[in-house]
Amino acid sequence: MANTTLANTTWMDIGASMWNHVTLMRHVPQVSEPDMRKILAYVWELQYRGPQGNPKDGRKMFRQKGCASCHGDRAIGKTVTPASLAAIGWGEGRRMHQRMLEQGISWPQLSAQDIADVVAYLNSPSQK
Ligand code: HEC
Repeated sequence: MANTTLANTTWMDIGASMWNHVTLMRHVPQVSEPDMRKILAYVWELQYRGPQGNPKDGRKMFRQKGCASCHGDRAIGKTVTPASLAAIGWGEGRRMHQRMLEQGISWPQLSAQDIADVVAYLNSPSQK
């Protein structure tokens, strides 16, 4: 199970924890620098994931908040995280935002729980 208890942990803290628990590892894997960067980025992001999402509630939210009006009932795409979902608004060409402006749709109000649910829904196996 993912450890999401890293709140407000700095890079130095993560580095020190990894260093300190090497002695507990039965097998210490060789990790290349690029792979270590990916692992650290993943662990770093875990602390910002917010509440646990529920895909069923996310499905409801996807309809209620108007996402389905553009994306259809099934939104098949890349795996998303709360951070990547937020980044879409600033993404390449800001197409989603542009489309919303053109259609006079304002960005729906979503709570942290709503975002977690929508992310869980978009990442659920039935969507892939
Ligand atoms: C006004 C139309 C519109 C609405 C409403 C809308 N989107 Fe989008 N969305 C887009 C467009 C356009 C893109 C960009 C598609 C592309 O680049 O191919 C996009 C991209 C995305 C992507 C990235 C897909 C990928 O695989 O790259 C996600 C995730 C997403 N939207 C989620 C949502 C969610 C969640 C909501 C509701 C809160 C929502 N969208 C509401 C039009 C919309």
